[in-house]
Amino acid sequence: MSTIYQATASAPVNIAVIKYWGKRDTKLILPTNSSLSVTLDQDHLRSTTTSRADPSFERDQLWLNGKEDEIKAVGRLATCISEMKRLRKEYEIKTQMNQRYSFPQFHIASYNNFPTAAGLASSASGFAALVASLAQLYTLPASPSTLSLIARQGSGSACRSLFGGFVAWQMGSDPSGNDSLAVQVAPQEHWPQMHALICVVSDDKKGTSSTSGMQRTVETSPLLQHRIKYVVPERMEKISKAILERDFDTFAKITMADSNQFHAVALDTEPPIFYMNDVSRAIIALIVEYNRLSVEAGKGYKAAYTYDAGPNAVIYALEENIKEIVQLIVSYFPQRSGEFKDVLGLFGASSTDLNALAKIPEGFNGAVAKNFEVGAVKGLIHTRVGDGPRKLGGEESLLAENGLPK
Ligand code: DP6
Repeated sequence: MSTIYQATASAPVNIAVIKYWGKRDTKLILPTNSSLSVTLDQDHLRSTTTSRADPSFERDQLWLNGKEDEIKAVGRLATCISEMKRLRKEYEIKTQMNQRYSFPQFHIASYNNFPTAAGLASSASGFAALVASLAQLYTLPASPSTLSLIARQGSGSACRSLFGGFVAWQMGSDPSGNDSLAVQVAPQEHWPQMHALICVVSDDKKGTSSTSGMQRTVETSPLLQHRIKYVVPERMEKISKAILERDFDTFAKITMADSNQFHAVALDTEPPIFYMNDVSRAIIALIVEYNRLSVEAGKGYKAAYTYDAGPNAVIYALEENIKEIVQLIVSYFPQRSGEFKDVLGLFGASSTDLNALAKIPEGFNGAVAKNFEVGAVKGLIHTRVGDGPRKLGGEESLLAENGLPK
């Protein structure tokens, strides 16, 4: 009788505060600069993946959110799967294991608990969950940094989702890529007061993908060369120190400066790339004014915006200021009533209408942005710094008895 092996794991989303933008090797996915991110709580946003190895399967097959996706022979997914098989083989040889896997085919099912329409990148959590589930299935004693080497080859930013807390992706220098991996700067418990508010901004257009956009930037932007050489190395050091010292003011300044510079190199690309829209820019104006007030009151920066390759804003702030920021955002961006109960929960059980809670801090210059229509910010997700990949039990498997998605 043949044995069936199966494992289920979940992995978190991460949002960079020092952005990865540019590859020096597009096949191995080696970046032109180091980057640093905050891992977000899987209780709110996560990818879950079940992998099953069964000699009776005819070929490797993958389902994303229940729909079959092609595994291209030379694609990133195939690379991750074959790299995991290689790790297992090495492990068997090293430990002189008697029982050898016959490396049968896999069935893999992956599910994101957040809607694709939210415009949040799912490739980072998706590839991290894939690698974590295969590591579990193969009972590999591999460290998260070792696994990050493989997730990186699925999608660069995925390597940072192998850890919780605050995570650096060290660019490395070896042409093999063996030193281009993720390391933890500080665990989740180090700074649990670090929260995030995601403003989901409407986006009807199909934008330029990260992969093709960053390659064009590498080929055409002179500003990127300056960023790589002079700006990022110093910022990596300073923001790591700010995190270790729980210095929110410095963390916020660097986070916003780096988001700005990433969008500046996108604009410096030929032809130029725009990821932010009017709504994104209005949110920047609100945060800038909010921080101005706070600095004047001698309290330093209280919020930090950051934007990836799309119009959504992620606002990092300490827990104590989140309510005030939600009230400010809904003052300019009214929400559809009845939605986003999660954010309403901040204001106690009796609150039923987020718009009724709209409030601008005293002294705030209301003219920095115009008032938008309902739907300009179509949702708010309140979350916090979270943990790394989780091992899940059989009852959470995404595959049924017959090896097909449930
Ligand atoms: C703007 O990791 O999606 O989110 O490696 O080509 O898959 P590939 O790109 P991807 O790029 C992410 C870019 C970013 C910044 C970041 O997460 O650091």
